[in-house]
Amino acid sequence: MRRQPWPTTAPATTGHHRPGAARGQGTGGPPGVPLLVGSYRVPVTVRLRPILADLPTYRAGKPPPAGGGLYGYKLSSNENPFPPLSGVVEAVTAAAAMQNRYPAPFAVDLEAALAARFGVPASRVVAGAGSVGVLQQLVAATAGDGDEVVFAWRSFEAYPIVVQVGGATAVPVPLTADGRHDLPSMAAAVTERTRMVLLCTPNNPTGPVLGHEEVVAFLDEVPDDVLVVLDEAYVEFVRTPGAVDGPRLARRRRNVALLRTFSKAYGLAGMRVGFAVAPEPVAVALRQVTIPFAVTALAQAAALASLAAERELLQRVDALVTERARVVGELAAQGWDLPEAAGNFVWLPTGADTAWFVEQCDEARVTVRPFDGEGVRVTVGEDFGNERILEIASRFVDRAAEGAASPAVAAAGAPLPDASTDPDEALAD
Ligand SMILES: Cc1ncc(COP(=O)(O)O)c(C=O)c1O
Repeated sequence: MRRQPWPTTAPATTGHHRPGAARGQGTGGPPGVPLLVGSYRVPVTVRLRPILADLPTYRAGKPPPAGGGLYGYKLSSNENPFPPLSGVVEAVTAAAAMQNRYPAPFAVDLEAALAARFGVPASRVVAGAGSVGVLQQLVAATAGDGDEVVFAWRSFEAYPIVVQVGGATAVPVPLTADGRHDLPSMAAAVTERTRMVLLCTPNNPTGPVLGHEEVVAFLDEVPDDVLVVLDEAYVEFVRTPGAVDGPRLARRRRNVALLRTFSKAYGLAGMRVGFAVAPEPVAVALRQVTIPFAVTALAQAAALASLAAERELLQRVDALVTERARVVGELAAQGWDLPEAAGNFVWLPTGADTAWFVEQCDEARVTVRPFDGEGVRVTVGEDFGNERILEIASRFVDRAAEGAASPAVAAAGAPLPDASTDPDEALAD
């Protein structure tokens, strides 16, 4: 069996920044201990929350390195490579003329349009500043000091941060060897202190989607007073038969909420708009803990225009799903043993050779999302960018076959690509 390519330890203790560390993170030390910000020492006089000392740092996907005469591709943030539709840009431009006014306080038009799609009352839909903003509201509404939030690990990096900033305790439960949620272990991790469970489906960064029946069995195990959040940021890319039907569960169960975003399939990552479909009392609480005017008028306009142009946008999603199948197929032919890729990204278990893979990507002007010693998450983006990744992945397999055989690659019997291929030729746009 393949080695499990992600750590099973708690995220807050896996090599993250400590107080006073070089990037100015981890400010939870006592007053008087200077903080290093860049190359400056800044005196700390105010009392900051001690939890900041151990808070993991959110690492956003890097843009491609400049230079080298090659067009750069950013495959590090699971963004949509298609720019917004012209109708969406027009709606945003029209809204831009009114920026002296506050937006609608609760994005009511957007929430009503979404409620109609999900077949729930508008009172159950709450929009926020990106789904990560809504997640912060969910934690603020359900969990505080001494409470626990259970989630799979490795999963979306914001989870431990948002949970701990909210004052609650993160309870990470290791994924299975094939990158899936271990739902029985997650159910077993629920205690009297658990207030929320986060299920990420498809899971970022490993890719597999949860099955409907396994989620139903999980919900049957979890007490009704624990909120179970299905984070479905990538749901529009799912084509797996039997995948969890989140809206159905959200309509039928009193402790299930959906978390959705306009950042991925709808291509509005820059706008920061997401939403929850939550049980009525939870939705009320989410509105209590929100910052006023969290969703800008531009974001509301963009999201509404995108819903109106949904058919065209979902055709683009279809194109990305087709491209994902091509990329996954080629990787499998190279000998990679991959977890299911149900989102708009692929997980490559590069293990100890992750740094080598990332170096090659940097040289090829493509950024990916590395997890040191574990693997890389690569967004399915523009086809030329994907080609560069395939070329590097094939060289990785060659290298593994030559010596330092990586346990992540099923090299035996795999057809190896032609090592004489000129990388420059392969990389030329
Ligand atoms: C699983 C998951 N949930 C939520 C988000 C946050 O999306 P946003 O805040 O852009 O809506 C992301 C972003 O990458 C994600 O991967």
